[in-house]
Amino acid sequence: MVIVSTAVKMKAVVARGPGSPAALKVEEVARPAVPDDGVLVRVRASSVNTVDLYALTPVAHLVRSFKPAVVGTDFAGTVEAIGRAVTLFQRGDEVFGGVRGAFAEYVCISEQKAVVRKPAGVSFEQAATVVVAGSTALQALRDHGRIKHGQRVLINGASGGVGTFAVQIARAFGAQVTAVCSSRHVDVVRSIGAARVIDYTQQDFTQAGQRYDLMLDVAGNRSWSDCRRVLDRGATYVGVGAAGIQHSPGGGGRAIGHFLNVRLASIGGGRNVVAVFIASLKKRPSLAGRPSGVGTGEARDREAIRPRRSLGSSRVPVDGPRGRQDRDRGRPQ
Ligand SMILES: NC(=O)c1ccc[n+]([C@@H]2O[C@H](COP(=O)([O-])OP(=O)(O)OC[C@H]3O[C@@H](n4cnc5c(N)ncnc54)[C@H](OP(=O)(O)O)[C@@H]3O)[C@@H](O)[C@H]2O)c1
Repeated sequence: MVIVSTAVKMKAVVARGPGSPAALKVEEVARPAVPDDGVLVRVRASSVNTVDLYALTPVAHLVRSFKPAVVGTDFAGTVEAIGRAVTLFQRGDEVFGGVRGAFAEYVCISEQKAVVRKPAGVSFEQAATVVVAGSTALQALRDHGRIKHGQRVLINGASGGVGTFAVQIARAFGAQVTAVCSSRHVDVVRSIGAARVIDYTQQDFTQAGQRYDLMLDVAGNRSWSDCRRVLDRGATYVGVGAAGIQHSPGGGGRAIGHFLNVRLASIGGGRNVVAVFIASLKKRPSLAGRPSGVGTGEARDREAIRPRRSLGSSRVPVDGPRGRQDRDRGRPQ
């Protein structure tokens, strides 16, 4: 075991108070100490998710008693040291996962939380886009939506971080996927498994006369009564986000209104309306209830996590060539 002193410093991206992402600063902070049940990971790549902006809100600032915080969640890297009670990992293991404070040279995480070994054929940059968006999609479809083979599934907002994982996961469960996205993403969304793609700039999915067994709403830009129109008897609606409205002027308020509406509908709609606005990263990801064909072997794990078409997360290789910053697409999330 390697003992790491807390006096050792590392570079990290720090939020000191509420503001825009421009207020974030790279600073020297204390490197976290390895917990007995956890690992210290040298971060090789991270990625940016909408949830990372939360650290810049007044509420987050208040909750952490006005203290600065290291931002970022997704990471991939190499285990540098292990705690004395760790049994699942050893020094040198290549891993990926999700924990607060990932825009840093090092993170510490309990071995029981969201960290797993990285398959050899997946790069650090690819692995670093998986956990936040992928867990959100998996938990939304499998745990909350109770997705079943043969169901008709509608994904509104299918071409971003959560949506691209959702299309692939729903397909792996044997669902018939209808995806909603803009014109420029129609081909790519079809290529990852959507049987039907609705271009929202050309057609209104609520007026297409189709009904579904499960709707995953990532865009959150339609009223509950619009959505109800496309849900068949006994269907389930899972609200994940408000990507279609939250980035427009006044979007924050509209997004909050949307969240409250879904919450109210979930009370009135019983078990068939579910609000999942943040994935739980408290436990190691479970493959229980996995779709047939997805097993536990490395080759199958690699297939299950490969972010073939993740358009939504921005990959940030921490120590790639000259600190290169890859963006999968041009606009900020
Ligand atoms: N990323 C996460 O891990 C995570 C976790 C929990 C909750 N959420 C929430 O989930 C939402 C989506 O996150 P994300 O990371 O997937 O965002 P994203 O990568 O920006 O993707 C947004 C998606 O919404 C679509 N969209 C935008 N305007 C639309 C409209 N008018 N009609 C239909 N679709 C529209 C986009 O399609 P086009 O690009 O084709 O226009 C894209 O598919 C956010 O509200 C976020 O807060 C995200």
